[in-house]
Amino acid sequence: MPSWVIDRYGSNDVLRFTRDMVFPVIHFPNEVIIKVHAASLNPIDLSMRSGYGATALNMKRDPLKLKAGETEFPLTLGRDVSGVVMECGLGVSYFKPGDEVWAAIPPWKQGTLSEFVVASGNEVSFKPKCLSHTEAAALPYVGLTAWSAINQVGGLNQSNCSGKRILILGASGGVGTFAVQLMKAWDAHVTAVCSHDASTLVKKLGADDVIDYKSGNLEEQLKTLPLFDFILDNVGGSTEKWALDLLKKWSGATYVTLVTPFLINMDKLGVADGMLQTGVTVGSKTLKHLLKGVHYRWAFFMPSGPSLDEIAELVDSGKSLQQQRFSSDGFIVFLCESKRILNPSVNEE
Ligand SMILES: NC(=O)c1ccc[n+]([C@@H]2O[C@H](COP(=O)([O-])OP(=O)(O)OC[C@H]3O[C@@H](n4cnc5c(N)ncnc54)[C@H](OP(=O)(O)O)[C@@H]3O)[C@@H](O)[C@H]2O)c1
Repeated sequence: MPSWVIDRYGSNDVLRFTRDMVFPVIHFPNEVIIKVHAASLNPIDLSMRSGYGATALNMKRDPLKLKAGETEFPLTLGRDVSGVVMECGLGVSYFKPGDEVWAAIPPWKQGTLSEFVVASGNEVSFKPKCLSHTEAAALPYVGLTAWSAINQVGGLNQSNCSGKRILILGASGGVGTFAVQLMKAWDAHVTAVCSHDASTLVKKLGADDVIDYKSGNLEEQLKTLPLFDFILDNVGGSTEKWALDLLKKWSGATYVTLVTPFLINMDKLGVADGMLQTGVTVGSKTLKHLLKGVHYRWAFFMPSGPSLDEIAELVDSGKSLQQQRFSSDGFIVFLCESKRILNPSVNEE
């Protein structure tokens, strides 16, 4: 079948279009094969093309090293898919061939820059009715990443968010634009940090305060604002050194970062030492900040059909949500415009 694959890690010249990729096979009864109508790209695709996370992902692909001599290549990148179910495993009762679905495929599996992709049934969800396949393919990976950080790790939900002060660092990216809208849908007060170029977009998404990180000292600007209940950090690096001081103390306030050295540690140090290093780093930082009265957490993308069901519900109700809150175009259009969208069939032509 047609696919974009890589046969080694490197820069863009390792990408190869082939018509001879092996057709995916259902190995487990809970799996489905999806015909890809649209896929999209995320920063992780660029990083994986260069070999990021290869040690941990290969361990996940073959934990017992049973496939000695085999490699992960040819490897298909792409995590997001919107498409139609073509075939279901015997244990799948929730979906049937012909259903329109969306999903984010975990990075240890073959990706979506392909005509067909196989996924576990519990990673798949019905596509929002109000979106085309091309629009829908912009959302699952960033939506699930934001959902994991905010809801699963951060503990925020529709019923405990009202009036909470939220700071989103890197608000104009894929994860950030989704997070702004989710937090506004849950009635929080959102302070968004992005570049000046993106401030109109982020305001239209509903952010209450927008701060340009390129206009002077960001830390000083943020210190003039009231303290926050929750910080989502999509930027990482030096932000971690000062951002936790912006949280309310001894009130359950939490800082969650999506930029962690988890996979890099394993690439550099191997599985055992990398995991040990990761454990020590996250453990010591968590304890240090706990003693100061705030929570420090790492978050990761988590594939989840049930979470996508909840996101689809928000998306399908989003147009009216958007109309009430903002006077501009549709809730979704901004999300889709914020990502580069790749439709394999269009690309091939
Ligand atoms: N842990 C995980 O499982 C996981 C999963 C998904 C993503 N991530 C990570 O999360 C981060 C965000 O992902 P994404 O998909 O949203 O990436 P993205 O679409 O590339 O967005 C990143 C955004 O950050 C902004 N930015 C850069 N430097 C900034 C700064 N100093 N202050 C404020 N904003 C700044 C950029 O805006 P400008 O271009 O305007 O500067 C850009 O819009 C990435 O580092 C990604 O690797 C982690």
